[in-house]
Amino acid sequence: MNIMNVDYSTKIPNNVNLSEDRQVLKALEGWHPGYIDWWNDMGPDGFQQSLVYLRTAYSVDPRGWAKFDYVKMPDYRWGILLAPQEENRVIPFGENYGKPAWQEVPGEHRATLRRLIVIQGDTEPASVEQQRHLGKTAPSLYDLRNLFQVNVEEGRHLWAMVYLLQKYFGRDGREEADELLRRRSGDADSPRMLGAFNEATPDWLSFFMFTYFTDRDGKMQLHSLAQSGFDPLSRTCRFMLTEEAHHMFVGETGISRVIQRTCEAMKAAGISDPADIAKVRALGVIDLPTIQKKLNLHYSLSLDLFGSEVSTNAANAFNAGIKGRYHETQINDDHRLQNSTYPVLKLVNGEIKRVDEPALTALNMRLRDDYTQDCVKGLLRWNKIVSTAGYDFELALPNVAFHREIGEFKDVHATPDGMLIDDATWNKRKGDWLPSVDDGDFIGSLMTPVTEIGSYATWISPPKVGIDNKPGDFEYVKIET
Ligand SMILES: [Fe+2]
Ligand SMILES: [Fe+2]
Repeated sequence: MNIMNVDYSTKIPNNVNLSEDRQVLKALEGWHPGYIDWWNDMGPDGFQQSLVYLRTAYSVDPRGWAKFDYVKMPDYRWGILLAPQEENRVIPFGENYGKPAWQEVPGEHRATLRRLIVIQGDTEPASVEQQRHLGKTAPSLYDLRNLFQVNVEEGRHLWAMVYLLQKYFGRDGREEADELLRRRSGDADSPRMLGAFNEATPDWLSFFMFTYFTDRDGKMQLHSLAQSGFDPLSRTCRFMLTEEAHHMFVGETGISRVIQRTCEAMKAAGISDPADIAKVRALGVIDLPTIQKKLNLHYSLSLDLFGSEVSTNAANAFNAGIKGRYHETQINDDHRLQNSTYPVLKLVNGEIKRVDEPALTALNMRLRDDYTQDCVKGLLRWNKIVSTAGYDFELALPNVAFHREIGEFKDVHATPDGMLIDDATWNKRKGDWLPSVDDGDFIGSLMTPVTEIGSYATWISPPKVGIDNKPGDFEYVKIET
């Protein structure tokens, strides 16, 4: 069998030779009905009978792996796709540096690996649940299609993690796979595992922020796991990253289009001050200060996903060869980190300071720094749109101490500029920095669906290019109710 191409003859498309792996195939087929039930209950609300112009992977060859066609979402072929096995791959970091990568789970690392796979797996269906109502207020058919593309692929990422659990973790893997279908985003009794995945995604600006900032946390985690000495996990994550790139594209271009439209509307109305919120909102577009507040919220929630800055779990996972650094193989050092340090932002006598910590325990901080650098790229593009339009306004990432629930700064309050403030000041000012109920209501008031082919809501520009070289006025979704 050609590992590059995907076998569509089994019920579960795959490039892992499932037709000859009867036991795992049976386990996955047993899990399938529960998945479909979950999709029907918690997947996109409505539109399940609509034809959506979706891409489906037919190969894992990076030069060409997807085909586009109209599909009803419940008929989407969720498959198990692993990047091709690299011959003689070795563990690229940690105490086992240079030893052959594992094709089976090493007994002593079983619990750690299972935990990491379950945490990653839990985020995938969570985001589908968070986004399930958005179809009803999509600003265009193009955006509606992108939402559904992201949703079906997050569903596939759940399959990817469930395959690993079912194939490599026996009975407890099967139990974990069932649990992944049982937890629900935001549920009081059985929530999803990570904070940001229990937050609401009430409107499309939140969706774009989520796909830009929170999917990007996913990218960083997948990159670290793609380095794993456990080869099947590495291969799974490498292919997921190919799909994930589109999700972040949706976020980045979505926010770009919102900003573009706001600037155009302000210019046409002769508004010179972007902070004149009432005037800007009267135009039916989202003012830049409110976009900044949404950004503050989603960035800070996403920073919490990296865990504590200093973490022995992170050190252990690295030492063991389970979870590496971003672009590990391209880093020029000993890949063991026994004697190196890394500067960590800490709270020292009421001040935010950089303190050198052993590099091994500072791995979460390092990954978070890599993440922040990656986030900055979008901000540069967005600010370019604003300055090209002639406005003096800059979007900025808030300080890492701002609005945190996890890590060094969880017990203090800070301004977006990183000034520490007391509770009273925080309570008085937080509405200036985070979306208020009024802000949410205003954005909500703009969220009316636009379903005519080639039309776009007042608050967002059309995309520069369509999907799959199709124009913006292509019928991306044939709505059937
Ligand atoms: Fe994902
Ligand atoms: Fe994603």
